[in-house]
Amino acid sequence: MIATSTFGLESIVAEEIKALGYSDLKVENGKVTFTADEKAICRANLWLRTADRIRLKVGEFKAATFDQLFEQTKALPWPDLLPEDAEFPVDGKSVHSTLFSISDCQAIVKKAVVESMKKRYRTGWFKENGPLYRIEVSLLKDKATLTIDTSGPGLHKRGYRSGGSEAPLRETLAAALVIIARWKPDITLIDPFCGSGTIPIEAALMGQNIAPGMEREFASEAWPTIPRECWHEARRETHERADYNRELDISGTDIDARAINTARKNAARAGVEQAIHFQERSLSELSSKKKYGKIICNPPYGERLSELKEVEKLYKEMGKLFKKLDTWSFYVLTAHENFESLFGKKASKRRKLYHGNIKVHYYQYYGPRPPRR
Ligand SMILES: C[S@@+](CC[C@H](N)C(=O)[O-])C[C@H]1O[C@@H](n2cnc3c(N)ncnc32)[C@H](O)[C@@H]1O
Repeated sequence: MIATSTFGLESIVAEEIKALGYSDLKVENGKVTFTADEKAICRANLWLRTADRIRLKVGEFKAATFDQLFEQTKALPWPDLLPEDAEFPVDGKSVHSTLFSISDCQAIVKKAVVESMKKRYRTGWFKENGPLYRIEVSLLKDKATLTIDTSGPGLHKRGYRSGGSEAPLRETLAAALVIIARWKPDITLIDPFCGSGTIPIEAALMGQNIAPGMEREFASEAWPTIPRECWHEARRETHERADYNRELDISGTDIDARAINTARKNAARAGVEQAIHFQERSLSELSSKKKYGKIICNPPYGERLSELKEVEKLYKEMGKLFKKLDTWSFYVLTAHENFESLFGKKASKRRKLYHGNIKVHYYQYYGPRPPRR
C-alpha cells in the first residue's frame, strides 16, 4: 500500500502507520509504502490523520517505451482486483521520464487493463457502471508505478467543515502540527488565531482518540473485493477505541466573530464541541494561569502588501505576549520569511512544509520541561 503525503510530512505519516501496527515501511518523497493485508485498507483510511490518501500498489516496473508500459500493465492481476462492472478511470503523472505525454500513458494503461479484463470476463465491452476504482500511472525516472485509489475524496475531507472561512488550514496539516508539537491530552492547548477551528478540532479528535475518518465514506467501501466484515470490524474498532469522556483543556480564540461561529459549528459536526472552548478575542487579550501549555497556531501571513505592515506588528505583539507565558512552548506556522526576527527570538527548531502550493515554515519554540510528578 502507499500512503501519499504532503512534502515534508512523510516521517509523520510513517510514524502514524507504525502506531497502527504496520512495519516494513519505505519512506520516499511524498509517499510511504508499506505491506499489509486488506484490513489495513480500512484501518489506514479511517485512522491516518496526516496522509493525503491510501493507494493500493498493483505493480511497479521500468517503462521507457509505450510497448513496455502496455505489456507490463496488461500482465498485472487486474481481474483479481476489479469486478466486471468496475468504473476505472486512469489518472497519470510523469516526472523526468522518457514517456512524458501523460494523456498517451493514461490511454495505454486503460487499454492494457481492458485487455487483461477481457480474458477473464470473456467480454469485449465494459459498462463501467459499478464501484469506482481510480487507477493512477505514475512515472518517475522511467519507473512506472500503478496504483488504485482506495480513499475517494482526499483524507483531509473529514466531513466536519462547512466552508465559509477565509484561509482554513488543511485538516491533515493541522493534525501534523499537533503531532509535531508532541501535544498530549493532559497539556493545555491554545490557538489564538483559530479561524474555523481546524487546529483545536484536530487536537480534540486526537485527544479523545476519535478516528478522523469515522464520519465519512471511502471509495473502497463499495468494493466487492473487500469483505464487508473487514469494514464492519474496522469501524467497530473506531467506536471501541474512542474516549468521548476524556477531559481536555483546549481553547480556540479569534478576533473574528464569524470565524468563531464557524469553528463552533465545525466542532459540533466533528463531535468535539464539548472538548473545546471557543471565544471571540483579540490576541492582545491572550493570557493563561496554566503552566507548561502549548500554543499551536497559524497567524495571518500577510500575502497582500496592504496587510504586511499589520501582520508584522502582530508578530511583534506575539513575541511580547508569548514571553509572559514563560513555561509554555510555542508552535507557529507562517509563510513570512522574517518571522523569527519580528517575533524577537530564534526558534528551537524549524521545519519546512507546504500549505497547498505555499512554502511555509513551522517555527517551534520549546519551553522548559515540566517537573516530574
Ligand atoms: C490564517 S487564519 C487561521 C486559519 C485557521 N487555522 C483555520 O484553520 O481556519 C488567521 C486568523 O487570525 C485571525 N486574526 C487576525 N488578527 C488577529 C488578532 N489580532 N487577534 C486574534 N485573531 C486574529 C483572523 O481572523 C484569522 O481567522
